[in-house]
Amino acid sequence: MKNKVIDFRSDTVTRPCTSMRRVMAEADVGDDVYGDDPTVNRLEDIAAEMMGHESTLFCSSGTQTNLLALMGHCQRGDEYIVGGNAHTYKYEGGGAAVLGSIQPQPITFESDGTIDLTKAKAAIKEDDFHFARTRLLALENTTGGKVLPQSYIAKAKYFAEENNLALHLDGARVANAAVAQNISIADIATQFDSLSVCLSKGLGAPIGSLLCGNKDFIHEARRLRKMLGGGMRQAGVIAAAGIFALENNVQRLQDDHDNAEYFAEKLTALGFSEMQICDVQTNMVFVTLDDRHLLPICNFLKNKNTILVNDPQEKETSQQSRSTVRMVMHKDISRADIDMTLKHFSTYFDQ
Ligand SMILES: Cc1ncc(COP(=O)(O)O)c(C=O)c1O
Repeated sequence: MKNKVIDFRSDTVTRPCTSMRRVMAEADVGDDVYGDDPTVNRLEDIAAEMMGHESTLFCSSGTQTNLLALMGHCQRGDEYIVGGNAHTYKYEGGGAAVLGSIQPQPITFESDGTIDLTKAKAAIKEDDFHFARTRLLALENTTGGKVLPQSYIAKAKYFAEENNLALHLDGARVANAAVAQNISIADIATQFDSLSVCLSKGLGAPIGSLLCGNKDFIHEARRLRKMLGGGMRQAGVIAAAGIFALENNVQRLQDDHDNAEYFAEKLTALGFSEMQICDVQTNMVFVTLDDRHLLPICNFLKNKNTILVNDPQEKETSQQSRSTVRMVMHKDISRADIDMTLKHFSTYFDQ
């Protein structure tokens, strides 16, 4: 029998379950560009209510919802303050600059995933024609599997208001942040002027992200989405998966968090000095390995049982001889898969 692939690369690799596929097949559809798709409209209503925002727009991806937010808050020649490792800065093809003529002002994340607000303050440009206009602070929650403290978010909101900045959240995994703190997603979402939420990560839908904000902001985002070629037609088929994800898969994220904690604890207990495991807050486990083990262990896992891990993350400094791999828990990884993976880690280091 063919071995199951145990895919730890990301929570984006989840496959829609049978029940999700059924609601997709049976979805009532219309033309969403005409505003006629009842399932898309229902998803947008459910999401707005759940996030505590006036309005929501259903889009194809988190990259698109983030870009729409940046373009909605900033005009040409404006600037957004963003984490140096943030998805909206580093991993979205420079879209804000390419398509929005918006300049990023990156600031290195603190170790807890926050942006130091004193540094953010220093980065805000004076009103002077030499400078770009600083318009927006963009945060990310979770970021690298870490949850932004609610107390920090409250300070960031106050800071943004004091400095006339809009506040956007890349909440690709905001549901993980809410579940980890046992609060509602709205408790986080309502602190922001806009947020992007991904349905296609731990929530298990095959595609889709939501942009939330007030009515005017979403009205403008809808225009920008069309301009970017993101208008969709009978999108109810995929919106149905989004509704299923919001209704059934939010609390389930706790299983992924429990699995991540279990995996990290057991991996630490193996006691191999060549390997260090970072603290786990949600569904991501970061394993730091001596470079001489890095590729061998990745290949060993792949060959042994088709266990896939993410490409090694960058080193903090070029002098370091250790690198970190990210292993992400999701609905298609079971305890048995984790036990199997632990066994292979153990075999590798014992050989
Ligand atoms: C934090 C974060 N934001 C945004 C995105 C973009 O989502 P998408 O892949 O749907 O464009 C990702 C994707 O992995 C992400 O991890």
